[in-house]
Amino acid sequence: MRPVLLMKVFVTRRIPPEGRAALARAAEDGGLTLLLRMVSNSWAQAILLPQLPKVWNYSCEVEQWDSDEPIPVKELERGVAGAHGLLCLLSDRVDKRILDAAGANLKVISTLSVGVDHLALDEIKKRGIRVGYTPDVLTDATAELAVSLLLTTCRRLPEAIEEVKNGGWTSWKPLWLCGYGLTQSTVGIVGLGRIGQAIARRLKPFGVQRFLYTGRQPRPEEAAEFQAEFVSTPELAAQSDFIVVACSLTPATKGLCNKDFFQKMKETAVFVNISRGDVVNQDDLYQALASGQIAAAGLDVTTPEPLPTNHPLLTLKNCVILPHIGSATHRTRNTMSMLAANNLLAGLRGEPMPSELML
Ligand code: NDP
Ligand code: DGY
Repeated sequence: MRPVLLMKVFVTRRIPPEGRAALARAAEDGGLTLLLRMVSNSWAQAILLPQLPKVWNYSCEVEQWDSDEPIPVKELERGVAGAHGLLCLLSDRVDKRILDAAGANLKVISTLSVGVDHLALDEIKKRGIRVGYTPDVLTDATAELAVSLLLTTCRRLPEAIEEVKNGGWTSWKPLWLCGYGLTQSTVGIVGLGRIGQAIARRLKPFGVQRFLYTGRQPRPEEAAEFQAEFVSTPELAAQSDFIVVACSLTPATKGLCNKDFFQKMKETAVFVNISRGDVVNQDDLYQALASGQIAAAGLDVTTPEPLPTNHPLLTLKNCVILPHIGSATHRTRNTMSMLAANNLLAGLRGEPMPSELML
């Protein structure tokens, strides 16, 4: 029997059953835990890790923050200390402080998300830590939610539902609760990546006439499917009837949708954000919505999350806000958790991860 190396893994939240099961299988004790604790210090790893796939079996000691609520930073610092692997969520800010708390053992961070803006990537790269993430498996669910949010917002469904409940529905009225439809419209997509394309694919059959998109550079191959035109951000703002933000949050996209952006938009245009809250300047968005500069907004993501219940945006009828549920289908979250677990385990074994972020 090959010897077993103990790896310590810290998981920052309760995760869906399939991912949990994958970790539990890996955690089955090989019976040599005590010995392996001794060898799993940093000198042993430095010497042994390159050869591990050939030489060792692995045993995983998994500790989990057993709650549906976020882990306090102090608990995260405690839990990650000495860990070889960290399975975290988009709500866990993995910065220098956490990496220092983890110490030299940490070799793999696996995030249960495609977005990686919560990870201090420069610092992580400097320390030679590998990162796993969950692209593709959530694209369909998120695009589906983006389309739902767009339709909910542009056809004013929350207002309409409320009117039925509060007695405001007195008769069929020609001018009442009219919104904007997709037929013959121009849709602008900020970030024609995996999710941006999946949104365009779903919107096309609604009769959209023209797709525009922005990004760091044109993506002619991807754009061909929708005959989408690459334009500047101001052009996209000015020409679109519907704008869907689906880019990643980076220093370049932070605050991209600001006063200037909203001022360029049509008064009849509808704005949707499913990427990250920080891509939008929310004060500027509030002004644009409250003053009628734009027609409506649908947000699946905000800053902060959760949005305080007394936030001004929540006072507006023309703003629909969801609690970051883009990928929230049972199947998708299970698949994400499996992928996150498998990324982590492959990283610990020194093998290629199913989805590794190349740093
Ligand atoms: P991709 O990497 O496939 O797409 C990211 C897009 O961002 C690319 O099209 C890229 O365009 C664009 N982008 C990057 N920099 C800029 C820039 N400066 N200006 C404009 N666009 C830019 O990722 P996914 O499509 O898989 O996911 C996108 C994001 O969606 C995630 O990072 C995450 O934040 C968010 N998300 C939200 C979910 C939710 O629940 N609401 C669920 C899943 C994801 P290019 O490369 O051409 O510059
Ligand atoms: C992500 O994966 O980045 C989403 O925001 C949640 O699924």
